[in-house]
Amino acid sequence: MIQDGADPQAQAAAAHALQRGELLGLPTETVYGLAADACNDSAVAKIFAAKGRPSEHPLIVHVASAQGVTPFASEVPDFAARLIAAFWPGPLTLILPRRPGIAAAAAGGQDSVGLRCPSHPVAQAVLQQAQALGVLGVAAPSANAFGRVSPTTAAHVAGEFGASLLVLDGGACDVGIESTIVDCTRGVPVLLRPGVLTPQALSAACGQEVQLSAALQGQLDPQAPRASGTLAAHYAPRAQLRLMDAQHMATQLQDWPHTVAVSAKLALWARTPVAVPTALAHRVQQHAMPADAVACAHDLFAQLRAFDDQGVDEIWVQSPPVESAWEGVRDRLRRAATLVR
Ligand code: TXA
Ligand code: MG
Repeated sequence: MIQDGADPQAQAAAAHALQRGELLGLPTETVYGLAADACNDSAVAKIFAAKGRPSEHPLIVHVASAQGVTPFASEVPDFAARLIAAFWPGPLTLILPRRPGIAAAAAGGQDSVGLRCPSHPVAQAVLQQAQALGVLGVAAPSANAFGRVSPTTAAHVAGEFGASLLVLDGGACDVGIESTIVDCTRGVPVLLRPGVLTPQALSAACGQEVQLSAALQGQLDPQAPRASGTLAAHYAPRAQLRLMDAQHMATQLQDWPHTVAVSAKLALWARTPVAVPTALAHRVQQHAMPADAVACAHDLFAQLRAFDDQGVDEIWVQSPPVESAWEGVRDRLRRAATLVR
């Protein structure tokens, strides 16, 4: 059931639910998480089961403050401490060496742990209250079935897991795409997952150049940990998603009716308006894609879900500009577009 996340009683009930080893839909500033006590292995097992996610895929552990790192990480390199000082609470996850014996199931058995301190006031309130009850950290992957689009509203979470799950409603997520992930276990900072924080901003804050993981450079990365977010097909809507430039969109539209069933429906999401032939107007809908990367990230997953809800068969998205501010959106769209069915 969905409850008002600003209600202190709902927050207290959520903290107690975590302490009892139950699952919870929790708003954060990036996307909604499916939360459980990170140090309770059977609670963590419920997350993997509910998501249908392989249990060796590590989860992010959410902590109430920078001090919350200490029980989980055996070492915090200097550059990681600077990133924490600059961006926490906020949409940044750091991979740090894990203290032996803690949160092993949440970490998918790896000797590292992903840690993040979210800024959303509801997440903050629940994390602080749970900590007071002895819950040191809260494991929370995005609250979607494995491989599907991440949820950015409470209704999305309820749609994924049904009415029996307690979901705190914290409104639509500000950021809209998942946190930026920086691996701090390799001696130098390595970007594993782009988000709204640009590599330049991260490098400036930590005083050294943040490297791009080989996977982000389009290569196979033998050192990369197992990660659902790094699988090729991820964040996919049900409709087939295609990425193309605006010109290509206009020319493809001419051919499209000859390649699909007469009942097929198409959604266009573009920054440049596309001329839709009148004969196709009843089958092709067009939505303006925000011209600003931050606004686009905010809308991205909700828009893909809305297109799915409208039952479109294909979604054509105008390729984002090749600029660092767009890297998070480009990454999610590339993955959504790789799923061919
Ligand atoms: O914004 C976010 O990060 C959201 C909200 C709920 O906080 N959470 C999220 O979690 O996106 P999830 O589980 O959907 O994505 C977690 C990513 C995965 O790609 C996982 O592989 C990576 O974080 N990760 C977590 N722990 C890791 C570790 N120890 N080593 C390497 N990657 C790790
Ligand atoms: Mg996810």
